[in-house]
Amino acid sequence: MLLLTLGTAAGGGVPQWNCACPGCSGARTHPSRRRSHDSIAVLGPDPSSWFLVNAGPDVADHLEAHTRLRPGPGEGRTPVVRVLLTDAELDHTIGLLRLREARHVEIHATAPVRQALRERLALDTVLAPYTTLTWHDLPATDQSPSVVAGIEVSAVHLSSKRPRYAADAPAQGAWVVAARLHDPSHGTTALYAPALAEWSEGFGKAVAGSDCVFVDGTFWDDEEPRRMGISTRTSTDMGHLPIHGSEGTAGRLASMSARCLYTHFNNTNPLVDPSAPEHGTLAGLGLEVAQDGMVIEL
Ligand code: MLT
Ligand code: MN
Ligand code: ZN
Repeated sequence: MLLLTLGTAAGGGVPQWNCACPGCSGARTHPSRRRSHDSIAVLGPDPSSWFLVNAGPDVADHLEAHTRLRPGPGEGRTPVVRVLLTDAELDHTIGLLRLREARHVEIHATAPVRQALRERLALDTVLAPYTTLTWHDLPATDQSPSVVAGIEVSAVHLSSKRPRYAADAPAQGAWVVAARLHDPSHGTTALYAPALAEWSEGFGKAVAGSDCVFVDGTFWDDEEPRRMGISTRTSTDMGHLPIHGSEGTAGRLASMSARCLYTHFNNTNPLVDPSAPEHGTLAGLGLEVAQDGMVIEL
């Protein structure tokens, strides 16, 4: 399978429209530092058949930016678009509204995510005059996987963190998952986990069984959101394990054999500056910083 990293930023992107922090200002001065909202495209054995993992505000620009994802050849339109969701957060889902020109939108998500999008965001009602939404369950990894574009997909339950617009919804269930992507024709597996609130045994096992893993890189260290003045909460309190520090994910990922890439960078993260010394720290551990527009073959 081929993985295309369409975007690698957390909610707001880099730069964020209302922010002049060093990361956002740096991206205005150096356009190569810009990052769009995190998402990947997955291409299976038939490269004309693909799906997205998450659909954020940049989704139509993502599809336009990659020749493999454009319609054609000929004058036809892309009739069906398939999207797998890791959670119901706005930065991963409001792109569904931008996909309304498709005839059908096939959505694979866990029960609480489907319920939030259908009942809280009323996506069926709003999009009914434009397109047809078809909702599919995204099974847990101990169930039979769904097959999308020739890839077996399933969900590793990560946390029950609800989006702020659904804060009063029941706190049980698979609100946030890692997408497990298995290519049966090559025997390869990828894991996509842009929001990791805690390192569970199940997640550790899923990483150990993968060839390539994308992990939550929202914040460099636990104090970053408070130090940068964007929140009164720590990174962990916000549902994002930091990269660095005693509870950081870097130490655990460094011992794994999978290729590990961080994604979902907040604009306050020092890694959005390519000259930051933190890049050397990660490189020394054999860990990578994902960039928009990477092509990974597994
Ligand atoms: C998150 O990753 O924690 C959310 O996307 C934050 C948000 O934008 O509401
Ligand atoms: Mn997010
Ligand atoms: Zn900023």
